[in-house]
Amino acid sequence: TPTITGSVRKDIVMIDKIIGAGEIAMSDHRSGQPTAQDYRRLAAETRVGGMISGKAGIINMHMGDGRNGLKYLFEITEDGEIPKTQFLPTHVNRNKRLFAESIEWAKQGGYMDITSGIDPSHPGSENAVKPSKAAKAALDAGVPLSHITMSSDGNGSMPVFDDAGNPIGVGVGDQHSMFTEFRDMVEEEDIAIDQAIQILSTNVAKALHIHPKKGILAPQSDADFIVITDDFELQRVWARGQQMVEDGQAIVKGTFEA
Ligand SMILES: [Fe+2]
Repeated sequence: TPTITGSVRKDIVMIDKIIGAGEIAMSDHRSGQPTAQDYRRLAAETRVGGMISGKAGIINMHMGDGRNGLKYLFEITEDGEIPKTQFLPTHVNRNKRLFAESIEWAKQGGYMDITSGIDPSHPGSENAVKPSKAAKAALDAGVPLSHITMSSDGNGSMPVFDDAGNPIGVGVGDQHSMFTEFRDMVEEEDIAIDQAIQILSTNVAKALHIHPKKGILAPQSDADFIVITDDFELQRVWARGQQMVEDGQAIVKGTFEA
């Protein structure tokens, strides 16, 4: 993977913002087709970098539709030397087979990251698992709540392929899906609201070792929170103690926004 200092380990140790590596593609036709040994070496680098710097040293794994699924991750962690928590496989709900494997992975101690922007009603994603349903299914299958996370992949590129595998366009990951899937977890899947919130906040912060600065409302922690109505209308957003949204409208704009 491209680095700043010449090594992934040094990047993690020397640069405060760098807490691991990712996304590293696996079982995807767009990956650099690394071998299991390549992945293992990278994990060793991030692990030691994380230990030296007191960070997670986690690898965010971009999981593709490839038939091998999580095979390499099981292989690399089989002997127990590198713990499963060193990896955070994401997009696990992109197809049913990968999703089933990720439940097994998480039951054996790993994390599973559901991508909220993956939508089975999109053309080409018919085999995907709706994010809110994925969270429910994982809980029902016995995955510990603390090992389920969700992220949006917001603004990520989402290429579209035809049946022959030819790229026919590029979509954009939607960050609004996080809120929609949060609502659906509670309203459609009957997941208790305090559990659903953890999947989007506390669990993520803990997996990335940025808890308790993030992922909790407590003295000395960042004040990141939202205020919603009883029927899940977003009213207010606070980020690091600053109010960003009032009455559902953004009141702070980015540098290039009018
Ligand atoms: Fe990805």
